[in-house]
Amino acid sequence: MATFTWEVNDGIGVVTIDTPGAPVNVISRAVTEDLYEALAVLEREPGVKALVFLSGKPDNFIAGADIEEFVRLKSTADAEQMARDGQALLDRVSSYPKPIVAAINGACLGGGLEFALACRYRVATDHPKTQIGLPEIQLGILPAAGGCQRLPRLIGARAALDIILAGKSERAGKAQRLGIVDELVPPAILRDIAVAAARRLSQGSFRRPRRSGFLGSLLDGNPLGRLLVFRLARKQVLAQTRGNYPAPLAALEAVRHGLSHGMREGLKREAQLFGQLALSDVSRKLVQIFFATRELKKDPGIAGAPPAAEVQRLAVVGSGFMGAGIAGTTVVQAGIDVRLKDSDVARVAKGLNAARDLVNERLTRRRITKFEHTRLVAFLSGSDQYTGFGGAQLVVEAVFEELGVKQQVLRECEAVLPATAVFASNTSTIPIGRIAERAARPERIVGMHFFSPVARMPLLEVIPTAATAPQTVSTAVAFGRRLGKTVIVVKDAPGFWVNRILGPYMNEAAHLLLSGVRAEEIDRAMVQFGFPVGPITLLDEVGIDVAQHAGEVLEAAFGERMTPPPALGALVKDGRLGRKAGKGFYRYANGKKGGVDAAIYALLGVQPNGAIPAAEIVQRLTYAMLNEAARALAEGVVRSPRDGDIGAIYGFGFPPFRGGPLRYLDDVGADRLFAELQRLAERLGPRFAPSEAIVDHARSRARFYP
Ligand code: 3HC
Ligand code: NAI
Repeated sequence: MATFTWEVNDGIGVVTIDTPGAPVNVISRAVTEDLYEALAVLEREPGVKALVFLSGKPDNFIAGADIEEFVRLKSTADAEQMARDGQALLDRVSSYPKPIVAAINGACLGGGLEFALACRYRVATDHPKTQIGLPEIQLGILPAAGGCQRLPRLIGARAALDIILAGKSERAGKAQRLGIVDELVPPAILRDIAVAAARRLSQGSFRRPRRSGFLGSLLDGNPLGRLLVFRLARKQVLAQTRGNYPAPLAALEAVRHGLSHGMREGLKREAQLFGQLALSDVSRKLVQIFFATRELKKDPGIAGAPPAAEVQRLAVVGSGFMGAGIAGTTVVQAGIDVRLKDSDVARVAKGLNAARDLVNERLTRRRITKFEHTRLVAFLSGSDQYTGFGGAQLVVEAVFEELGVKQQVLRECEAVLPATAVFASNTSTIPIGRIAERAARPERIVGMHFFSPVARMPLLEVIPTAATAPQTVSTAVAFGRRLGKTVIVVKDAPGFWVNRILGPYMNEAAHLLLSGVRAEEIDRAMVQFGFPVGPITLLDEVGIDVAQHAGEVLEAAFGERMTPPPALGALVKDGRLGRKAGKGFYRYANGKKGGVDAAIYALLGVQPNGAIPAAEIVQRLTYAMLNEAARALAEGVVRSPRDGDIGAIYGFGFPPFRGGPLRYLDDVGADRLFAELQRLAERLGPRFAPSEAIVDHARSRARFYP
């Protein structure tokens, strides 16, 4: 009974959940047995009138069912049984003869929330680490320990579906407003308030006030209203998932079934659906991403690296779009001093404002208090001189994309920085080795390639050169992680990883346009395949001029197979730079994207002809990418298929349910890809010629993953 210990005070049993040696509390089979045992013992204690469950972990209540356990399941029947076992445990909790109060501090997720929902009363702390939610959908499964039944009964179908279908976590304040949490308290008094609640419950009955409001009761309170809610939710799910993710529809079904046929039938359906989903390919892929991301969180980025240097002050040169984003994200995520430098004060001021906007946004979204906001904003300062750089441990350079300018800035920085400071360039196309060519301390130079917008994009590529010291790498990796980024270490080769494998994909989109495929047909096909946006929209977002430049760099490095078709030049000449210019392939009005601008076809000199079906669009775009991904991996651009897949998923939204380009390549099969690429090469030209890596894999029937 190691996980549960308790003390009894004045009739209230306070049970501490703390799995020894584990970083977080999870509900495993062993913990389940312990809990049955603890409940049995405490039931028999006549002196115990009510229970409080709280966690012994500093910032975790219960992180859910044990994911490691459910990935070992071998059959749908086993998975269904596992859900039934979880449901039986929580039935025991909800029908326990003595009232149980959940005292929640830290993550209360998945099975953890389902446990709390089975308790009679919930007190939660207002600590930012207290996150309450049902993230199962993100693992391709559904809440199967009664979550699809108890949550809608507690807060109404509409609000419950909102959480379940998006796999969302809410802060405790929001959870209280929704009615999931009964009381919100500061951490210091959590135990006292929970004990007081347990005492009240042991002395009399408790009726939870209704919170649903007029619209809520209209929609949730009668079958017709609910029908509307379900119909709308289904429509939304299909619009978002395009049918590629089965879990949200299954969850919708579990909730609907339970509300129409009662709790018992609902639980049965929930367990059946869990059984099907847990073994599905989509769930397996999503869980692999969870594990890969977790491994990367612990990976220093380089073997045997000394510990990272601690960064207490960041300096940023170039307070433009990227520099300001890096500065603001640093303040919000790491809460440290940031010094911005640009060539004139007006630009510095603009950058500071943009960085401050990111802090303001946290306040508007109630993620920080006014006090915290004032504290964070005070970390931002700037100048048109290098003042303050002497105290920085890391500088990120985000000036114009010109080698001469970057080398000049590096020289100036080396003159003012401490000898141990790391200099990182955010270049998207210039080899880091070139920037470091004339450096005084090349071992301190590294690339840190952020993606735009910095605050929202989850990936960072860290790029060492042959001369970069291991500690420089570990410092850049650790700092990126402090900013909340998933970090991959990639080789100093043109395009690094993300832009390298995007290159042939984007080029192929341009080839299709020039052969008369409509822009929206290309986008639609790729969104249906699972990308968040299609390649043409992506061009507008990135900036057509920026993409054109990146394309030229790849062509210069790799020659013919990367030659961009002459599509973008005409648009750039016409001032169509994409969203930032208010016109690109699509029309934009007041920041809103409209339809495709028919004028582009005249500029490109083509007539849309609808001759190429969606399946071929998808094949040409994805196979071009897979071919290059295999080649770049073989060249060591990424350290492993894991890094390559995570980079593509977080860098440009490669469909997560396909597991990343290399896992997808395994699914397609190297031999089939080889044959198809050859066919495409014969028909469309040598850009499709199978790379050596594909030839090798096809010949040896090798896979990237076991
Ligand atoms: N099962 C197994 N291990 C888990 C886990 C879980 N549910 N949740 C976290 N862990 C492990 C992590 O893998 C990691 O292990 P490691 O140290 O050996 O690498 C460790 O706990 C710490 O996790 P993080 O590094 O992610 O720590 P953070 O503090 O950054 O985040 C967290 C903590 C918010 C709890 C985050 O780990 C998380 O989101 N976990 C997943 C939560 C989840 O998806 N729960 C649903 C599970 S499915 C379920 O409950 C089904 C039910 O309905 C039947
Ligand atoms: P930007 O034009 O918005 O900002 C560049 C800033 O650098 C300007 O404010 C400019 O005044 C300043 N600057 C130029 N020379 C300087 C000097 N010698 N000293 C001090 N400041 C100087 O450009 P953006 O988009 O922020 O790009 C910056 C860098 O980030 C480039 O290398 C770019 O390739 C890279 N990058 C850009 C991405 C994007 O999507 N915009 C994505 C990833 C990297």
